[in-house]
Amino acid sequence: MIKAVILIGGPQKGTRFRPLSLDTPKPLFPVAGRPLIAHHIEACVQLKELKEILIIGFYPQTQMEGFVSDMQALYSSSNINIRYLQEFTSLGTAGGMYHFRDQIRAGNPRAFFVLNGDVCADFPLQELYTFHTERPSSALVTIMSTEATRQQSLHYGCLVFDRASGAVSHYVEKPSSYVSTFINCGVYVCSMDIFTKLAQIFHAKGEEYSCLSYNNGNGNGKEQGHIKWEQEVLTPLAGTDELFAMPVPNWWSQLKTAGSAIYANRHYLALYRRTHPERLANVGQKRGDGDGNLICSVYPDVYVHPSATVHPTAVLGPNVAIGPGVQIGPGVRIRESIVLEQAQIKDHTLILHSIVGRGCIIGAWTRVEGTPSDPDPNKPFAKMENPPLFNNEGKLNPSITILGCFVQIPAEKILLNSIVLPHKELSRSFKNEIIL
Ligand code: GDD
Ligand code: GTP
Repeated sequence: MIKAVILIGGPQKGTRFRPLSLDTPKPLFPVAGRPLIAHHIEACVQLKELKEILIIGFYPQTQMEGFVSDMQALYSSSNINIRYLQEFTSLGTAGGMYHFRDQIRAGNPRAFFVLNGDVCADFPLQELYTFHTERPSSALVTIMSTEATRQQSLHYGCLVFDRASGAVSHYVEKPSSYVSTFINCGVYVCSMDIFTKLAQIFHAKGEEYSCLSYNNGNGNGKEQGHIKWEQEVLTPLAGTDELFAMPVPNWWSQLKTAGSAIYANRHYLALYRRTHPERLANVGQKRGDGDGNLICSVYPDVYVHPSATVHPTAVLGPNVAIGPGVQIGPGVRIRESIVLEQAQIKDHTLILHSIVGRGCIIGAWTRVEGTPSDPDPNKPFAKMENPPLFNNEGKLNPSITILGCFVQIPAEKILLNSIVLPHKELSRSFKNEIIL
């Protein structure tokens, strides 16, 4: 039996994902029509030996329980237990795992997966597990690795490993100068003995902390239980024949900014072609959606929730996801965008490279457009850049256009490269602005 842990962090994290994370916790943001971590769960349930998925984070229980019960119901026939375990405070990327060690070890699993909740990928979990089991018995952790450009590698955990054995000799988290173009994807297989290491780290910190009165401002303010997986566990494991890496060619990306959600949306939609073609609306398809409504012409790949109403003269795609209850009027054109639940897009409006938040109302003949931020196609192994909101001159960097929830835009306006906070009612056109 094996298990999986999904690390999702909490409300203070995901700040680069605002204003979308103001409304929905980032791990539940819908990409290709499904919450971000539902894609992780979907990959995990494919593993025959997998029996339990533990989602660990510090979001309040109330924000996660609906999602967890939906997932339980969806996979009830496969007998997989899915639970959310809430950290009392941020315990870091390994602290939560140590805190909930009894829950992870319950039932005696042979190994467990750890997946960062903020990555998107065509997860090769079975291959990773087989690779791990074929390593020497000393192997505690196998890291899924991918290649990045020299410059981009500095934003990730970098590893040097032996190509034949996979043994990692050197691991540096976000190095300041070049170490390796092989990076950590934030997806691991761990042997159960990893808890012995975590216990050693925890107790060593206990001694350190007992010398520091960390509650009266002399310490660093972190709990004793706060453990950084990358710096405190992986770095010392390198070079000991306990840490291994498996390089994979599969598509992989982080989801940090809203711009990367459009990129992930496109790739998850493309994956559906292989894994769930029934979820995609077909080319030129005009079909009844069950309520007698027609779905318009589409350029692949497009996902339309069954409860959305799309006028037959609208044109969607490529790379569009339309959420539940969305209403799309005649002549609307949507491309490279995500439209979230209950939004209304009135007649002849155009949406390009944008995310339209829940419940937005966009008037007729309006144009909502953003600038795409894709990886450089001319650079091998290039990943998404996650540029800061503002450039050095204090100007907004061109980005996709994002409408927070319940934004209203009147008819015949143009909104270009802008970010609109929730509940705003715009009265004119805007370009390169954050509308607070
Ligand atoms: N439960 C819990 N508690 N989860 C946490 C906490 C915490 O206190 N802090 C972070 N996480 C979760 C985040 O939600 C995210 O899914 C994951 O752990 C990684 O956290 P970050 O701290 O944001 O790290 P990162 O994304 O910058 O870098 C990590 O991932 C890269 C790949 O995406 C590192 O592992 C890098 O080495 C790696 O390259
Ligand atoms: P490139 O992508 O730069 O090659 O240009 P394009 O001709 O595809 O035009 P653009 O990216 O601006 O628009 C994408 C789609 O939206 C095209 O199919 C256009 O016909 C359509 N479109 C452009 N402007 C409007 C508009 O104001 N209203 C509507 N309904 N559709 C539009």
